[in-house]
Amino acid sequence: MTRAIFAANWKLNHGPAAAGALVREVLARFQPRADREQIFFPPALSLGAVVEALAGRRDAAAGVQHVYWEPKGAFTGEISAPLAAEAGATWALVGHSERRHKFGETDEETGRKVRAVLAAGLAPMLCVGELLEERRAGRTEEVVLRQLTGGLAGLDAAATARVVVAYEPVWAIGTGVNATPADAAAVHRTIRRWLADHTPPGSRARILYGGSVSPENAAALLAEEELDGVLVGGASLKAESWLRIIETARPGR
Ligand code: PGA
Repeated sequence: MTRAIFAANWKLNHGPAAAGALVREVLARFQPRADREQIFFPPALSLGAVVEALAGRRDAAAGVQHVYWEPKGAFTGEISAPLAAEAGATWALVGHSERRHKFGETDEETGRKVRAVLAAGLAPMLCVGELLEERRAGRTEEVVLRQLTGGLAGLDAAATARVVVAYEPVWAIGTGVNATPADAAAVHRTIRRWLADHTPPGSRARILYGGSVSPENAAALLAEEELDGVLVGGASLKAESWLRIIETARPGR
């Protein structure tokens, strides 16, 4: 059985005190289940508090939202994958649309970051997704494949198989307008075909959907076979809505 991934991207929200308290509350109210895991992506300054709050729970993990590709050196303000690992992270987001579109991160840079994350022994979650004008122009597939190719450049098949991809259409992020399960699944199939050609025979990639996932739409999205989990921003910030999402039933899975 593939475990479903419920990933919480808190973006620039929750300092150490709030972050630790939220994870403690969520874990106290949610008993481990074999069919799912949670990953919290707090701001880097709150990582330590989250790792402490995980208290060794096997079904939950922590990650960073961003790393620089160099491991150390004269790079004022940056954080690196080895330092994140030392601080207890086991995951790193790479190429989130806010990094790409608000901070100008390129496909080539996401590729360097994915390689740095893997080299440090962390699991990368590579985010891809098209802008509204790209979707309207019928370019969704081209954009997503370009981001995949750039983000996974230079990896051998075994390394590629360690990457989880999150499909997050930019027009759905933080807007309250989610992709329909069918539209998300169509893009997932494109991603899955590409990954099947670049990973060892028999490996099945885990592909998440993100973009305005909420307690109201999580069941319909997760009923879609193609979705191996969700990456959630706004609705992951409070215990109540996050718990409703992670408790979503997945009939027949
Ligand atoms: P959202 O954000 O759930 O608030 O749309 C998702 C994300 O940016 O990862």
